[in-house]
Amino acid sequence: VISRRNYHEKVLDHYNNPRNVGSMNKKDLDVGTGLVGAPACGDVMKLQIRVDSATNTISDVKFKTFGCGSAIASSSYLTELVRGMTLEDAGRIKNTEIAKELCLPPVKLHCSMLAEDAIKSAIKDYQSKTKRPAPTLGPDV
Ligand code: FES
Ligand code: FES
Repeated sequence: VISRRNYHEKVLDHYNNPRNVGSMNKKDLDVGTGLVGAPACGDVMKLQIRVDSATNTISDVKFKTFGCGSAIASSSYLTELVRGMTLEDAGRIKNTEIAKELCLPPVKLHCSMLAEDAIKSAIKDYQSKTKRPAPTLGPDV
């Protein structure tokens, strides 16, 4: 549990009860995986989305963050935000929206940047998969 003095209660809530923690099989063709790091501190975030190709919307989302409280809160909040969104809308989310919702102080802005980078990279991964023909399944897959 992190100190109450330095964090807004929304951060504490997401930090203590993070939503949608977990992972998906990154080999699934309908799953996009984003794995990003923050150069400023070395924290790492993995974010995965499952996409309903018929509607181009995010049907499920999971994350794992190895980082500070603000990074965990940012990713937890992001998972709630993007569920049900189209890829276009999710790709337009700005870290400043996340920081504003969580009342992050300026020194913690890069933590919310990690969440923006992670969703963008997950979308990119999904899109690069769907452009490729499905891999042929063999004994070594
Ligand atoms: Fe301390 Fe990221 S720099 S947790
Ligand atoms: Fe680096 Fe939060 S301190 S992600």
